[in-house]
Amino acid sequence: MTALTLSTSAAPGLRADAIVIGVAKGAKGPVVAPGAEAVDNAYDGKLAGVLETLGASGAEGELTKLPAPAGFKSALVIAVGLGPVPDDGTGYGAEALRRAAGVAARTLGGAKKAAFALPVEDAAAVGAIAEGVLLGAYSFDVYKDNGSTAKAKADKAPLAEATLLGGKPRDAAHKAALARATAVSEELNRARDLINTPPNDLTPAAFAAIAQRAAKEHGLKIQVLDDKALAKDGYGGILGVGGGSAATPRLVKLSYTSPGADKHLAFVGKGITYDSGGISLKPAGHNETMKCDMSGAAAVFAAVVSAARLGLEVNVTGWLALAENMPSGSAVRPGDVLRMYSGKTVEVLNTDAEGRLVLADALWAASAENPDAIVDVATLTGAMMLALGSRTFGIMANDDAFRSAIHEAAEEVGEPAWPMPLPEHLRKGMDSPTADIANMGERMGGGLVAGLFLREFVGEGITWAHLDIAGPAFNEGGAFGYTPKGGTGSAVRTLVRLAELTAEGDLG
Ligand code: BES
Ligand code: MN
Ligand code: ZN
Repeated sequence: MTALTLSTSAAPGLRADAIVIGVAKGAKGPVVAPGAEAVDNAYDGKLAGVLETLGASGAEGELTKLPAPAGFKSALVIAVGLGPVPDDGTGYGAEALRRAAGVAARTLGGAKKAAFALPVEDAAAVGAIAEGVLLGAYSFDVYKDNGSTAKAKADKAPLAEATLLGGKPRDAAHKAALARATAVSEELNRARDLINTPPNDLTPAAFAAIAQRAAKEHGLKIQVLDDKALAKDGYGGILGVGGGSAATPRLVKLSYTSPGADKHLAFVGKGITYDSGGISLKPAGHNETMKCDMSGAAAVFAAVVSAARLGLEVNVTGWLALAENMPSGSAVRPGDVLRMYSGKTVEVLNTDAEGRLVLADALWAASAENPDAIVDVATLTGAMMLALGSRTFGIMANDDAFRSAIHEAAEEVGEPAWPMPLPEHLRKGMDSPTADIANMGERMGGGLVAGLFLREFVGEGITWAHLDIAGPAFNEGGAFGYTPKGGTGSAVRTLVRLAELTAEGDLG
């Protein structure tokens, strides 16, 4: 990952491949953002005009390259759009900075060093720019090394080194913001790696082994239930879903405990390492990206490790429900009835509605510890994608205030999310003539139906929320802002923020 430093040096004397500056959209054309004064001065204060001549407007996502002025030790100036000039008295928002830094970091792939001269008003800006750089510079080319030359590899390598100008290396708040951004971005990028790893390599057992290594490194308690242990304890949901695959399922429990904590959060992640649909096989065109179906578990894993690295004063337990959904002679069939870990029976009407089955068992296991709240994260339904598009996740909950708090936390960290209801009338669509409940109901409102199913497996009186990240978990389009193609790490930052808020006593 890119190495980050804070520096109060002046831009002209910095030896780097490029100096990144901000340009905002003003009423009468582009406006050079604070932080770039030295560059503007070297252009005789006419940089805004130069940028306008080059076609820049300051719009978000825009990128303009120009030669560095004479006397500068860097060759290139990169101007990134910050969007509208903020209203009087308000600074540039964290998300505008994060995205602009991400756009610049992305185009700097292959470069050795860049200086970021974006507007830094406070420690929050330092954190946002650092996150933008670290997340934007991400690339996944583990599987691309065959036959490529060392030079080709270097050209694709993420930006090696970045200096944030205006960040004060001796300011405690600035240093803390940089440390937080580094820890969270590192873990988030690891989640992206897991999501992007092909399913022939990332089996449930392989994922569990990676969690075991991380637990050792960060002093977390870990328990891994393999298929035999799952059978012994009656995890019918996870075993049913995993039964069709030669790669057997796992339930991983990862615990971070803080001596000062008086609250306990449980995070539960859907970890389908590949979703073929099972016997209700997905048609071609619908399974090419289904290695992403463990994105919820990856997010939970990253959030627990982040909480440990940040030393948050809250206990956080992560549950990873890992299975591969495959069709075979031992696979669960439409019509089968599973006895779940909670004791409830489920008639499986569609083997492609598998996420709710593995989550049901993990939610019940999480409930047994009576945490203050449970949040599950899952690429659960195509219906949520239809409802909210590919960049926004849905939030459902059994508590209105908790749902709102999560929505606020998501907004704070720059993750688009939206509250969704759990309409009671949709519950009866899952009535089964044979079992306690069916794993499918009405087609309309399918994302909400899935939420209602999960609610049945949350322990009595426990505050619970469900994040359906089917849309934003995997970016099938081009990279934008600090979001790469492929695995995005959706929900990691929201979960970490929730843990922080809980530690600070500002939640529940
Ligand atoms: N993993 C899918 C949901 C999904 C779809 C995630 C597209 C990301 C992108 C899930 O297991 C699934 O197949 N859901 C079904 C449920 C249906 C059978 C009730 C769906 O949404 O079609
Ligand atoms: Mn499915
Ligand atoms: Zn799935």
